[in-house]
Amino acid sequence: MVIEIHKMNKNQKSILILGANGFIGNALVKDLCNDGTMKIYGMDIENNKLDHSLGNPNFVFEKGDINSSDKWIKDHIKKCDIIVPLVAIATPNVYVKDPLKIFQLDFESNLKIIKWVAEYNKRVIFPSTSEVYGITSDKEFNEYTTNLTVGPVHKSRWIYSVSKQLLDRIIIAYGEKGLLDYTIFRPFNWIGPRLDSLKLAQLGNGRVLSIFIYNLLNNKDLIVVGDGNQSRSFTYIDDGIDALKRIIYNSSGNDLNKKIFNIGNPDNNININNLAKILIEEYNKIYPKNFTGKITNQDHKIFYGEGYEDIPVRVPDIREAKKILNWAPKYDLKMSIRETLNSFIKEKENNKL
Ligand code: UGA
Repeated sequence: MVIEIHKMNKNQKSILILGANGFIGNALVKDLCNDGTMKIYGMDIENNKLDHSLGNPNFVFEKGDINSSDKWIKDHIKKCDIIVPLVAIATPNVYVKDPLKIFQLDFESNLKIIKWVAEYNKRVIFPSTSEVYGITSDKEFNEYTTNLTVGPVHKSRWIYSVSKQLLDRIIIAYGEKGLLDYTIFRPFNWIGPRLDSLKLAQLGNGRVLSIFIYNLLNNKDLIVVGDGNQSRSFTYIDDGIDALKRIIYNSSGNDLNKKIFNIGNPDNNININNLAKILIEEYNKIYPKNFTGKITNQDHKIFYGEGYEDIPVRVPDIREAKKILNWAPKYDLKMSIRETLNSFIKEKENNKL
């Protein structure tokens, strides 16, 4: 139980963040707390990434599971102006190993939230994903024109993509009936401090950068899946949070209802081979002799299993976010990689890993 010492002032807007302890959640909470303008309610099963904000008078945290905290969640949807449901498993290894878990948590649990947000007439800012575009051949993925293309149903890697896609479609359908005020955002490979727990990355349940960093810090080979020519457009978390806050505060003054935004950095598109090389280079600048491992290649069927398919290219079209949010990413690739690496090194030094 959290006791609210500071009462809300009447005009202060309030926001409910579900999954407040996650990679995006904790960074968003931190920034909103620093701004000090909103009342922030957060729920998560853990709070280990929220050390920076627990105790802030504008932040009320409740430890809880969205699967078993219906009363608290409903009460807080009623109480808040904006709902940001960030709870999801977003690591490809789990899509392949436990697709029903993705369906249950990423889809079913979030559907419940969306229905309540509609029922109580609130605004939802929903995290879709770059994964919805799948293996489309478009050079840049556009929110309104790109076809969403995924592999066959026995390739369970796609369960995350289609779970998010169906939620997007349900949200849009509610919106068309005038029953839901929404903005959808699609993060493209956001990276930064607290991306994944390195303990989980060690077991393969991370994203590429956290797995690579774990291996680097533990002097293990970096395993590149396939030939390593597949590319991603990595986006630094501060750029992502900047975009997200523009949506939350509606600082551009434009109508954001019914809008979808890719939030990514097309200039930071790089293939995985080069990502591994740059990361090792950056690490060697800090600890010249520590890493004696190498880059090796492994077939995706061995790394992830039969249910995996890769995505060869993923570049966002960000014209919409530039035009409507007046937003543009600022962090270049090396800076984004360096900042992420440094944050994990620092946590390791502080024995927080
Ligand atoms: C990710 C995840 O689905 C989500 O976190 C998220 O919604 C989305 O992309 C996003 O942030 O845009 P993906 O980029 O495929 O999907 O996931 P990563 O695990 O980061 O893998 C990127 C690439 O690196 C893939 O080609 C993968 O095969 C490769 N990889 C991964 C390696 O070569 N080695 C590894 O150790 C791990």
